[in-house]
Amino acid sequence: MRNSTRSGVDPFIVMDVMEAARRAEEAGRHIIHMEVGQPGTPAPQGARDALARAMQEDAMGYTVALGLPALRRRIAALYGEWYDLDLDPGRVVITPGSSGAFILAFSALFDGGDRVGIGAPGYPSYRQILRALDLQPVDIETAAENRLQPVASDLEGRDLAGLLVASPANPTGTMLDRAALAALMEAARAQGASFISDEIYHGIEYEAKAVSALEISDEAYVINSFSKYFSMTGWRVGWMVVPEDHVRVIERLAQNLFICPPHASQVAALAAMECTGELEANMAVYRRNRALMLEGLPKAGFDRIAPPDGAFYVYADVSHITDDSRSLAAEILDKAGVAVTPGLDFDPVRGGGTLRFSYARATADIEEGLERLRRFMAGRGAV
Ligand SMILES: Cc1ncc(COP(=O)(O)O)c(C=O)c1O
Repeated sequence: MRNSTRSGVDPFIVMDVMEAARRAEEAGRHIIHMEVGQPGTPAPQGARDALARAMQEDAMGYTVALGLPALRRRIAALYGEWYDLDLDPGRVVITPGSSGAFILAFSALFDGGDRVGIGAPGYPSYRQILRALDLQPVDIETAAENRLQPVASDLEGRDLAGLLVASPANPTGTMLDRAALAALMEAARAQGASFISDEIYHGIEYEAKAVSALEISDEAYVINSFSKYFSMTGWRVGWMVVPEDHVRVIERLAQNLFICPPHASQVAALAAMECTGELEANMAVYRRNRALMLEGLPKAGFDRIAPPDGAFYVYADVSHITDDSRSLAAEILDKAGVAVTPGLDFDPVRGGGTLRFSYARATADIEEGLERLRRFMAGRGAV
């Protein structure tokens, strides 16, 4: 049987790194994980307790396609707490992770062949999901002086049907401030491009609060998730806020594509939203880890880094060391016992000269990882 052309998407290289790390662990080695973009912590205790109770009382059948009304209401209230916005719960759609939200958003907004702008470096799956839906990802090469984020002038002459941005971003952790975000939204609107804002790392910010696209305009799709701040990656639950006149389109797609997001995960997610103490304790760990990284990475010789405003990543330019980040990552894993992600996942053109370090794990691991990186680089004669 033949495969479709649009199914020819690239593998997620970080998954290959994870597999290599797993093999090394199986062979008895101790590996520090700086490759994985997920919290090391479980879902908050309150979320797990709420689900345990619900499982005794409820059949956990399908929910309605747009998600549990109580969860949609609670998320709308979060927009009041985080951004001082009065959001209609009717515009909130619960999705199977933000990944499910991308499929819904791209299907609702674009036709086959449409061009959708994404920043490079950027989260790899944007490009692959677009391709799988027969859409054309248009890489916008970003500049260090723009915090590796697209700027309005980058959109000129691109003929885009859509623009997707993330702030804080993966792999860089950099954010768009209000003016930069507003300028991008206006530039997209001016060329008739739909604006999609990936806000999955909101809540994980350090110096300044991340700005939501909804603070600027209701004419945007805003995508978020319980995976990161709420520490629930494997639960596969996220959400999307869409303009009022798009709710029914999304509902019809969601009914047919997914029937509903996982019921159990929605119950847990609702309770997770009341677990601020535990979530802020996680934040305190990220904050401490970030400080250690900002001190330790330059000491190890990784001193060309993007400003890590949020998320739990540091993106380092290593082009003075290598143009083959994949081999360098393999060497770091092999010799230092630290798993890191080669930049090629995020930037097919320049990623041969970059690495992403994640600091989402326990502080003791970060300390040990930094020490191993320092010794490795010293051994290479880099510092
Ligand atoms: C920027 C960004 N968006 C979306 C996702 C997908 O997250 P999920 O489907 O777990 O919500 C990730 C995962 O790492 C990410 O980094």
